[in-house]
Amino acid sequence: MDASAAPARTPAGAGVTAVAVAMARAMESDRSDRMFHDPYAQSFVDAARATLDADEWSSLVSWVDLFYSRGVVRTRFIDDFVRDAAAGGCTQVVLLGAGLDARAFRLPLPDADVYEVDTPSVFAFKDRVLTDAGARVTARSRTAVPTDLREDFATRLGETAFAAHRPTAWVAEGVLPYLSAEQARRVIGEIGRLSAPGSRLVFEHSDKPGPDPKAAATPGAARISALVRGGLGPGGRDWVAGHGWTLRITERAELGPRYGRPDGRLTGGQFVTATHD
Ligand SMILES: C[S@@+](CC[C@H](N)C(=O)[O-])C[C@H]1O[C@@H](n2cnc3c(N)ncnc32)[C@H](O)[C@@H]1O
Repeated sequence: MDASAAPARTPAGAGVTAVAVAMARAMESDRSDRMFHDPYAQSFVDAARATLDADEWSSLVSWVDLFYSRGVVRTRFIDDFVRDAAAGGCTQVVLLGAGLDARAFRLPLPDADVYEVDTPSVFAFKDRVLTDAGARVTARSRTAVPTDLREDFATRLGETAFAAHRPTAWVAEGVLPYLSAEQARRVIGEIGRLSAPGSRLVFEHSDKPGPDPKAAATPGAARISALVRGGLGPGGRDWVAGHGWTLRITERAELGPRYGRPDGRLTGGQFVTATHD
């Protein structure tokens, strides 16, 4: 078969979690009262479904059943963060563990260059689906940086047009939990080193890291939550504050009702937005 006619291969390892989040965004985008519109999310889901087996597919469905409101509230919160940061002078946006995030193709960011960091298998899938869907970049530019965050991602980023002297909005959305505390802290340390004054950062934090107990107890979803390594770990928020960042905390529980997506099952944790000194 001609390689260009073969179905796009669903990303491997933790990359499959990106499909679950895209599934939540596709569901949200289909609602008449949607709080954002991601026109590519359904294309990612359809392409993944064509290559996943029944067990893999049903784990994604179970995970989304549990995490739908959490996923879409996070997307909306971080959409607002990115728009505000770009309006506030951050002319670069770096999406760490970008997954199937299509912000560079759906948010109007005419003055911002977007860099997406994720593993090569994610970009092989993502870029094929976006090309097939005829997606056009809505940021000033979009650069894929295929690399593993456990390796020297800062050097890979430095090989692009990324410029550390320009203020940057760093988005660590749903990625730190897939790293150990040591790996996650190393990533945040590198980000600090690459951050001009006024740079911003967003990530989620919980003082009880590790797989969500409800997900771990749900057949199917457990398969995905088994990939979790814990992220920054207990005290991680204060550790970030001690490394040149001024933090602002938003309780996750406030956001579901604020956006009209209350869900009593998954209320713990916080969003941390931070500005670099
Ligand atoms: C739950 S998904 C979130 C994707 C995206 N940020 C979103 O919210 O839609 C986690 C993403 O982190 C990526 N990831 C996990 N570990 C990684 C690593 N060591 N290096 C690069 N990317 C990683 C996965 O490939 C996946 O795309």
